[in-house]
Amino acid sequence: MKIKKVIITAGGLGTRFLPFTKSVAKEMLPIVDRPNLEYLIDECKKSGIEEVILIVNNKKPEIEKYYSKDEELTETLKKENKLTELKAIDSIGSGVKISFVYQEKPIGLANALYVAKNEIAGEDFAVILGDDLMYNQDYPCLKQLLDIYNQYDCNVVAVQEVDKSEVSKYGIIGVEKEVNADVFQLNDLIEKPEIEKAPSNYAIIGRYVFKNNIFDYIEKLKIGKNNEFQLTDALKNMLVDNNKIFAKNLQGIRFDTGSKLGYAEAFIFYSCLRDDIGENVKKFIKKYIDKNN
Ligand code: G1P
Repeated sequence: MKIKKVIITAGGLGTRFLPFTKSVAKEMLPIVDRPNLEYLIDECKKSGIEEVILIVNNKKPEIEKYYSKDEELTETLKKENKLTELKAIDSIGSGVKISFVYQEKPIGLANALYVAKNEIAGEDFAVILGDDLMYNQDYPCLKQLLDIYNQYDCNVVAVQEVDKSEVSKYGIIGVEKEVNADVFQLNDLIEKPEIEKAPSNYAIIGRYVFKNNIFDYIEKLKIGKNNEFQLTDALKNMLVDNNKIFAKNLQGIRFDTGSKLGYAEAFIFYSCLRDDIGENVKKFIKKYIDKNN
């Protein structure tokens, strides 16, 4: 089955980024002049995805507003002959179908996916978590997972190694065997384990590809860590029933844009890549560092 649909979760409270996220979703934080979410949607397009389903909450309507037409702004830009700006707003959401599903309460990642069950309509699908920005210019991270799904027709999770001291912040996998370089077959998954209980230091990063029967496991889930319905628990139950799950050790740079440091890193990194301001940003950083050392 060709994977055509991606769910991007963007309905969380963004507590690590308060006070800013009191009124604006963290997925709308700008990286230079585009919301963080746009970079995730670019990754979907480059990976051959046709439809993006955004999971949002009704307290933060700015995401839907960003992806809807603004006739007045278009007219003004036309009148003022601002063609570059016109092109920039026209490109928003182009090349992929975007739809919205509302999650009523932030009761866990598993629930965030479940609210889009109807839109997925029985297909296998991919998931991107709204605060995990991944950079790989040549081989988009989602594509890395889709290639494994296409080869083995099974569930795939993205992982990267983290320091042992960090395992309690992530879902951690247990490895049954190496399928080939950077691809593992799993025998365990634990959400945010204590260091002593972690089966490895490979952490789940916010990219997944699921067989459609994940929804059966989400339906039967019991409340898990932090009083939320945990996706990792649904995956663990899939494993117990002998569903195959592979992990791909992702090749790319990860930015946790839901955290202050991760967001700052992402902003600087992407600014340096830009044709229009990159060289000046680098000069500024150098000047700033020299002055402060
Ligand atoms: C979620 C998942 C976790 C994963 C992490 C990656 O946790 O539950 O398994 O490792 O995303 O960012 P959260 O960061 O939402 O607490």
